[in-house]
Amino acid sequence: MTRTQVGIVGAGPAGLTVAGLRRRNGIESVGLEARTRDYVGHRIRAGLIEQGVADLLVAAGVGDRLQREGLVHHGINLQFAGERHRIPLSDLTGGKNVVIYGQTEVVKDLIGTRLADGDPLLFEAEDVQPLDLETDRPRLTYRHEGEGHELECDVIAGCDGFHGVCRASIPKGVLRSFSREYPYGWLGVLAAVAPSSGELVYAHHARGFALLTLRSLELSRLYVQCRPDEDLDEWPDDRIWEELQSRLALDGWNLAEGPVLEKGVTGMRSFVVEPMRHGRLFLAGDAAHIVPPTGAKGLNLALRDVHVLSEALAEWYRSGSTALLDTYSSTCLRRVWRAEHFSWWMTSMLHRAPDADDFDRQLQLSQLRYVTTSTAAATSLAENYVGLDSV
Ligand code: FAD
Ligand code: PHB
Repeated sequence: MTRTQVGIVGAGPAGLTVAGLRRRNGIESVGLEARTRDYVGHRIRAGLIEQGVADLLVAAGVGDRLQREGLVHHGINLQFAGERHRIPLSDLTGGKNVVIYGQTEVVKDLIGTRLADGDPLLFEAEDVQPLDLETDRPRLTYRHEGEGHELECDVIAGCDGFHGVCRASIPKGVLRSFSREYPYGWLGVLAAVAPSSGELVYAHHARGFALLTLRSLELSRLYVQCRPDEDLDEWPDDRIWEELQSRLALDGWNLAEGPVLEKGVTGMRSFVVEPMRHGRLFLAGDAAHIVPPTGAKGLNLALRDVHVLSEALAEWYRSGSTALLDTYSSTCLRRVWRAEHFSWWMTSMLHRAPDADDFDRQLQLSQLRYVTTSTAAATSLAENYVGLDSV
């Protein structure tokens, strides 16, 4: 049996950020991750970081490369009915912005820092089990390199994503869950071509939603709405480009094509559990909540949870006060529900539901026209998109 202060399950963005605790607050932790380091570092997912979250990463000492290589964006575009309208995010939010910097890069930076600091982070940890959560000596049992281990902790940070073991280890009846499944998914591609637009384009189209985003000045990231169970084999690259071309088409503008480096399908769901804590187990990130990607909030929420948790743990170790730990869940959930609403709203406004009729489409178009012509409506979208500091 070994002992640590914080046992962390999962080395996604949430778990790895908790892992940065020692650097700032001298708190020790051990991280346990089911997958290999290579897998975790190459999983292509989010790409858009709120300025406030970028600031948190910088303050945590893991933002050097983000500051050098991240692409700061001051606006996004909404496209519908053959028109493209810019939402000037920074003008509407007192100068706030968002940063394009891949989740893969965030994860690489966090892993690099953690290993450089010499803090234990075990990849390919099997059969991780959180135990004794209701006591003040919770434990994690796991197998690593064929041997069984036990880690005694002060607290456990459950950062193991939607399919993880931490939420599932909470006894039945404790958590209340809220969810919504959407009848569509996103087929995403990473393409080796300079992005055809300097700023993101969210397109509403009769054939379904499409999004043009980027990872760098040489790499485009593109998504088309598809079925949630879409078979990738039915989507050769030509078909993907054809679909993107028709959904993103705009007079006088061209979508440049390039070699597809990676493709995948993501289902879309909204999900929240309350509370985000049971005894000495604290859930953070996708382990506690999921949003559809349309609002670009998942990674941002995960990192904001961890910031709240880190401050609460630091306060507890410093003064013995559990006040911030006790309000961890309610503090996070206020932001989570705001992001849930925003992500649901963006999703509903931009996607074509299979059972949608002309009435539904007219409502969407009216809403899109409203947010692109009314400063009040555009400001509401903008302040949610860049991330609200107080909710
Ligand atoms: P995860 O990244 O899921 O990490 C959990 C980790 O726990 C994983 O490494 C997993 O292997 C590990 N694990 C699981 N089970 C166990 C176990 N039993 N034992 C040990 N380890 C375990 N968000 C944004 O903010 N902006 C965007 O632009 C955006 N775009 C997205 C686009 C796509 C296509 C997708 C799929 C998601 C997007 N998101 C976006 C969401 C974002 O990627 C997630 O919200 C984010 O990864 C959550 O981080 P996490 O650390 O909570 O969970
Ligand atoms: C991305 O860059 O992958 C991205 C950006 C904005 C979104 C979703 C995904 O809303």
